Amino acid sequence: MKGTIATLPGDGIGPEIMASAVRILNAVNKKFGHEIKTEMGLVGGDAYDKFGKHLPEETLALCEKADAILFGAVGGPVDDQESPRWKDAEKNVILGLRKKFDLFANLRPLKVWPGMELFSSLKPEAVRGMDVLIVRELVSGIYFGARRRFQEKGEDAAEDTNKYTWSEIERVVRVAFESAAKRKNRLTVVDKANVLETSRLWRDVVREVAKEYGSVAMEFMFVDNAAMQLARNPAAFDVIVTDNMFGDILSDLGGAVVGSLGLLPSASLGGKKFGLYEPSHGSAPDIAGKAIANPTAQIFSLAMLLRHTYGLSKEAVAVEAAILAAWTAGKKTKDLGGDLSTDEFTDCVLQELK
Ligand code: IPM
Ligand code: MG
Repeated sequence: MKGTIATLPGDGIGPEIMASAVRILNAVNKKFGHEIKTEMGLVGGDAYDKFGKHLPEETLALCEKADAILFGAVGGPVDDQESPRWKDAEKNVILGLRKKFDLFANLRPLKVWPGMELFSSLKPEAVRGMDVLIVRELVSGIYFGARRRFQEKGEDAAEDTNKYTWSEIERVVRVAFESAAKRKNRLTVVDKANVLETSRLWRDVVREVAKEYGSVAMEFMFVDNAAMQLARNPAAFDVIVTDNMFGDILSDLGGAVVGSLGLLPSASLGGKKFGLYEPSHGSAPDIAGKAIANPTAQIFSLAMLLRHTYGLSKEAVAVEAAILAAWTAGKKTKDLGGDLSTDEFTDCVLQELK
């Protein structure tokens, strides 16, 4: 396989964990005889310094030519959100890329690997075997609807519009049914149909699409209940599909259930081979430069890329197995109770890969 991945390391720990993932990619190339190269683009703070923009045209051009984007993280320190270098950086870059490439389906696997139950904030028996896939709609809904500030009866008011069209719902719901059909054939549709009209439209769409997937057991669940079930009995879920906002919130909750955010990859897809793959966590400026970041989410994101964009399942499995083998041998980064640096842990994974 020959190809090019656009790598966008970004800010904070982004460059540190991206360096790990690129080392893993090079090892995969070597082991399996591929020629997949990387080309790096600037996003976030460095891009702002050089181009005056968090997501410059130069970077977009690079991404357009590539087979896929491997993304690190973007965003500045919590106490410096208002300076021009950081203001709206996350929004500009992440929402910009999602919209530009119409990456409407965000796949966030929440998997508790065997032996890793202790990372969870729940009791080990509650998360054993947990393997949930959240499919989140990513380019519409309240994130992209009209918003405004205005005056009402002499006071400040604001509104954000949550709008969905039938086709926007249908395409992401199809991804969810397809995923469920390849997994345990169970789909939970999360909404707030006891209150929201958009949720009622989601239900109409789901009932139509469900007719084509007779083998998949589908249920509807209100989002408040889904949050409770996810924190109580996460192993009961298989695939969850939901809108942009609910998906954002539930996936962080799911992250806490799995344990370290440093373990969670994601893929944002647009119905083609092309996709954007990124850790579910942010740039973690508090630990940047200390060489302690856990590169696992970035490496798992690379595995998702190999699998989806290039169809290289064997290679993806090998990468995931190498991480698991390193953990099993007691090799862990700080967030998981170990004492290895980012690079030391990556060395161990590379060792297992060979
Ligand atoms: C995520 C993030 C983003 C989102 C932010 C940074 C805009 O929280 O990918 O979950 O809300 O989608
Ligand atoms: Mg989020």
